[in-house]
Amino acid sequence: MKIFLDTADVSEIRRAADSGLIDGVTTNPSLMAKVAGDGDPQEIFLAICSAVEGPVSAEVVAVDADGMVAEGRKLAGLAANIVVKLPLTEAGLRACRVLTSEGIETNVTLCFSAPQALLAAKAGATYVSPFIGRIDDIGGEGMQLIAQIRQVYDNYGIHTQILAASIRHPLHMVESMMIGADCATLPPKVLYQLMKHPLTDRGLEAFLADWKSTGKDL
Ligand code: E4P
Repeated sequence: MKIFLDTADVSEIRRAADSGLIDGVTTNPSLMAKVAGDGDPQEIFLAICSAVEGPVSAEVVAVDADGMVAEGRKLAGLAANIVVKLPLTEAGLRACRVLTSEGIETNVTLCFSAPQALLAAKAGATYVSPFIGRIDDIGGEGMQLIAQIRQVYDNYGIHTQILAASIRHPLHMVESMMIGADCATLPPKVLYQLMKHPLTDRGLEAFLADWKSTGKDL
């Protein structure tokens, strides 16, 4: 399962990439806005693309298909590992088809239903991003969506990769792994929560105390 970091913060990306923990990065306009300041967005994407070897999702902000295609081509031209992220609208799917036919990888985002995911696959999406946390936020069960899309894609031999998104806590990750999502994108906080376990801390403390009692060096 591929793990992506859901941030545009280059120092967080370097920290995770240098430890070999991540296979790529996803951004969205809200995440970009947090780090944009007076900076040039293209420079930020370039810095992210050189910090991580794998795919970097860069989202368009146009709302019409032609505008999305133009922005998508521009973004894809920045670096070989850019994946163009498009919203799951009619215009987004139209743009997805055009960019896919040009050999550009795409991530169709803001997916909230299994039929939407089927349509993203029809449009040739490389990845589809179903948003778990935002469904939970309105009283639904986000994980059911991941399970439904997995079933539909398996039923019809669809190769679009399911990128579990809007992950808010480790249980979302555990369930995505069990269901068989192809990838998950995690905020940095959740990535570091995943490696923590109280028994690991307690076990290490005991090992170190026992060793210290010998008074020896390795
Ligand atoms: C995914 O591509 C999005 O960037 C992200 O996962 C959205 O997460 P949020 O619902 O926590 O904002």
